Amino acid sequence: MPRTTPKHTRIPAEDAFFGYYPGTVAVVTSHHDGARNVMSAGWHTALSADPPLYGVAIAPERHSHGLITASGTFAVHFLPHHRADAIASAGLLTGRDVADKLHAAKLDWIEGDHGLPILHDAYLAYVCRLETRVPTGDHEFLIGHVETLHVDEAAYDARVLDPSHTHAAIYYGRSRYEALGYGPITTVDPDAVRHEPEEDAS
Ligand SMILES: Cc1cc2nc3c(=O)[nH]c(=O)nc-3n(C[C@H](O)[C@H](O)[C@H](O)COP(=O)(O)O)c2cc1C
Repeated sequence: MPRTTPKHTRIPAEDAFFGYYPGTVAVVTSHHDGARNVMSAGWHTALSADPPLYGVAIAPERHSHGLITASGTFAVHFLPHHRADAIASAGLLTGRDVADKLHAAKLDWIEGDHGLPILHDAYLAYVCRLETRVPTGDHEFLIGHVETLHVDEAAYDARVLDPSHTHAAIYYGRSRYEALGYGPITTVDPDAVRHEPEEDAS
């Protein structure tokens, strides 16, 4: 129903755009010419199912940006809350200064396609071939064609993340992370929504 009194504070975007979360953080690995790296990225999204496309906004000054654009490949991971330490390390250290950031972030990995590190603790990973680069202000939106998924089957129940097994890491901004999956779960019956009777206007 339309209301007359606003609940929200209206703020000019240039004063406060950055930092209104929560959301999951992608952990992006890269490999080029024997060099491997990992970084955190809160700005990411699925873009298309067919073809499967995933996009991540990565600032050109990131060390990872150079590796990804040079190799044309990257892998996007999602880590559980108990690895918030690794998400923070991947997002606070730079591969420009730290020779082995995967080691510094205490991340175990196996070598996947294109030599990309696939993180052992991830509940899900997408191996992507870089398809499109879109300049977006101070970042570049790198859109990848997802070639392969690496799924921790134990974390999923019929392709839905099972919170009794895995607590996804949710990022609130300002280095604060929370474990998802302790609250009540509501499964809405889509048919009930579609067939809800119109409210009587009379
Ligand atoms: C939680 C979190 C989210 C971040 N999200 C992004 C992002 O979406 N895009 C980006 O370019 N940098 C993001 N960063 C910053 C990079 O991860 C950070 O600059 C990192 O040091 C880059 O590593 P690299 O230079 O080794 O590639 C984020 C950092 C943190 C901690």
